[in-house]
This record gives sequence, structure tokens and C-alpha cells, in this order.
Amino acid sequence: MARKPWHGRFKKDLHKLAEKFSASIDVDKRLYREDIEGSIAHTKMLGKTGIISKKESEKIIKGLKSIRKEIERGKFPFRDEYEDIHLNIEKRLIEKIGQAGGKLHTARSRNDQVVLDMRLYLRREIDEIISLLKLLSETIVNLAEKNIKVFMPLYTHLQRAQPVLLSHHLMAYFEMFKRERARFIDCRNRVNVMPLGSGAGAGTSFPVDRHYVAKLLGFPEITKNSIDSVSDRDFIIEFISISSSLMMHLSRLSEELVIWSSKEFDFIDLGDEFTTGSSIMPQKRNPDISELIRGKTGKVYGNLMSVLTIMKGLPLSYNRDMQEDKEPMFSTVDTVKSCIEVLTEMLGHINFKSENMRKALTKGHITATDLADYLARKGIPFRQAHEITGRIVRYAEQKGKDLINLSISDLKKFSKKIEAEVFEFLTVEGSISSRVSQHGTSPENVLKMIKDSKKDTASW
Ligand code: ARG
Repeated sequence: MARKPWHGRFKKDLHKLAEKFSASIDVDKRLYREDIEGSIAHTKMLGKTGIISKKESEKIIKGLKSIRKEIERGKFPFRDEYEDIHLNIEKRLIEKIGQAGGKLHTARSRNDQVVLDMRLYLRREIDEIISLLKLLSETIVNLAEKNIKVFMPLYTHLQRAQPVLLSHHLMAYFEMFKRERARFIDCRNRVNVMPLGSGAGAGTSFPVDRHYVAKLLGFPEITKNSIDSVSDRDFIIEFISISSSLMMHLSRLSEELVIWSSKEFDFIDLGDEFTTGSSIMPQKRNPDISELIRGKTGKVYGNLMSVLTIMKGLPLSYNRDMQEDKEPMFSTVDTVKSCIEVLTEMLGHINFKSENMRKALTKGHITATDLADYLARKGIPFRQAHEITGRIVRYAEQKGKDLINLSISDLKKFSKKIEAEVFEFLTVEGSISSRVSQHGTSPENVLKMIKDSKKDTASW
């Protein structure tokens, strides 16, 4: 049985079951790069401050670098009995360079070490997510620009409501993803703080230089309370919470793609590359990718609940429960990245069936609001205008017609104020181009949104 770092205090070995149960190496080996990067910075600081000798420091750093190579070449012997990535690397270092390796852990505890690793890891992953969001946002703007002439119904309660530009609808998602991006950037500021030097929680008696370590690792600040440093996991909770919100938006877009690709709507073709067939029904083309994004959203929400629940009852400072934070963190990173990536690619493959979208505007009295607005502009109070229009819609339905197909004499029966010019406002084009309120659906407005957003993303 391998000796634990704490064997001095114990007479017996850890039970095999307890050892297997508490090992996290299978999960946290993903942090090897950060662990080694952090250890190198720590060792440089130990050498610079004279806590260990320059020679020892150099020896340790060389050993750590060769361990990194071993791991990258798949040659590293990961061992359960050394619990986690931190102990596995430290034990291997001692094996490789001898007792000098035992000095690596001077002025450090796994409690501050693990937080450093996770902060380094999340900082890098957040940067990747932010650049994936840029690609997604650019794809949306490009689609909006390409489809600027496509009209479609806007739905409320999934009932046809008002005519809009497809581009306007797409750009709504641009706004959502832009907000998520801002949230990740903000979250990154709180992740980007250096915890090392907090030791097990009380700080350390060695003359460490925390700012030097921070500088080496590119952290603009250090944590301000050693107890908080080792107790805090809210940077992970914040990250998963923003990820949940992002997944919610990805899921809504996916849901629209599912609806739009159904035969009932038939607004889009998702393309062979992003649909699957059925093993029994030869005619089927299923939007599995969108469905899976919708489904994986549940997993990310679960991850958020998981870390919140792990943390809620813990007294300060470190508790072993916290080891369970890594799976939800990794799972969230993997899920979010793969969902953004696949959705971005899929969007580029969609064929928008503009004629079908247009056809959906011919039924459902879609310009009824325009008629009510017309009457209101003629001086009729809007509530009354709404009622008159409602009666006209009922009449049209009785006649089996759509609003736009009623004659002027039909319309005049409901209000003398209605003139022949009303039809200008009842067409889909008329309705859309009349929506000139800032950021409404008129083509000039939407083109401006697209132009501004292009400028925006170019600076991201
Ligand atoms: N594997 C541990 C974790 O992820 C590292 C910290 C262990 N600290 C301790 N005092 N046992 O939380």
C-alpha cells in the first residue's frame, strides 16, 4: 500500500473502499495543466523569496515540466491511492527528483491549490466560450443580412400576431447572446483572482509573495481573505448560472427550429447534415440536434442545483463535500461549448423557405393591429378602435375571408372614418414598413440593427 502524505499521524492504512470512494483523480486529472502551471509559479516564488533555495526551485520546476510531458504522452501513472491530481503530481515529483520534491508543498495547502487550479481552468474556458459566442453572434447577423427581404409572422401565444422581418426575429437572439457575453466577461473578473498563499485557510507563516505569484500567472488581483479564499465556490456557481441562462436561450432558439422544421410550419429545411432519419418511418427527417440542445439544457440546470446544494450547508472553511464541484463544472463547460459550436454550424446550413413564411401571413388577419392603429390615428380612442376591428375580424370570419380581402363598402359599415387608403396599411409590406418606432420591424430599422451589430462584433 502506498504511503499517504499524512501517514505520520496514522497507525493503519485507509480502507480500500474508503480509498476508492474518496479518490477524485478520474475527474480532476483534467486539471493537470493548471496544477502544474500553478505549482511552477509557486515554486518560482519559493525560490525568489528564499523560502527554498534557487537550486531546489529549479530542480522542482524541471521535474514538474517533465511530468507535464509524461501526462501529455499518456505515460503518467495515475494512481487512486494518491486521491487527486495534486497528490498524484507531487508524489511523482518526489519519485523523480527525490526529497527536494517534498519542498514543493511548502507554504501551500491543497485547499488553496485546488481553488487556484479551478480559477485558472475556468478563466481559460470562459475565454473560449466568449470567442464561440462571437462566432455564433456573427453567424446570426450574417443570416439576418442575407434574409433581409423575408417576411414572417411574429407569434404571441404561438398564434399569428403581427408581420415582421425574419431578420428582426433572428436579431432578437443576437441581443440575448450579447447579454450573455457581457455576463461571462463580468464573471471572468471575479474568477480572475489569485487565491494561493491562503494555505489551509488561516494563511501561512512563510514570507510568501502573493503578488508575485499573481503576476506570474496573469492575475490582476489576489483574494482578500484567506478563509474566504478556500471556502468560496461562488465563482463556479456564477459561471454555471450564466451558462444556464445561455442554455435557456440556445434552447429557445432550438425549439423554434424544431417548430419551424415541422410539416405544420414548414418554414425551414435543416439540411441533411443536421437531421437524422427514423429507423422505422422512411419519410422522417428529425431535428435531433436542436432537440438535444434543448435536452442538454436540463443537464446544465441540474449542475447549477448540484453545486448550490453542495454548498448550502457547509460551515467555513474547506469541507470535502466541495470535491464534488468539479463534475458539474466540467460538464457545464463541455455542454455549453459543444452546444454553441453545433448550433452555429447548423444555423449556417438552414434553408429558409421564404414563400411558406409569406404564405403564413395570408391567413389569420395578421394586420388587424394595423387597422386598429389606423382608426386610432383617425381620432377614435384606441380601445374603441380595437373593438371595431374585433367586430370586423368576426365579420370577415363569418364570410370566410381574411381581413385584407374585405371590400371598402364592407369596412365602411363598421366605421365611416375608414377610407380606401386603409388598404395601404393592411398589406404585409405596409404593416412592416409602418413599424418605424425605434428598433421596430421596419426594414430601415432592422438594417440599422444589423449594421450596428456588425460594428459591435468586429470589436469583440
Ligand atoms: N481533491 C480535493 C478537492 O477537490 C482537494 C482539496 C483537498 N483538501 C483536503 N483538505 N482534503 O476538493
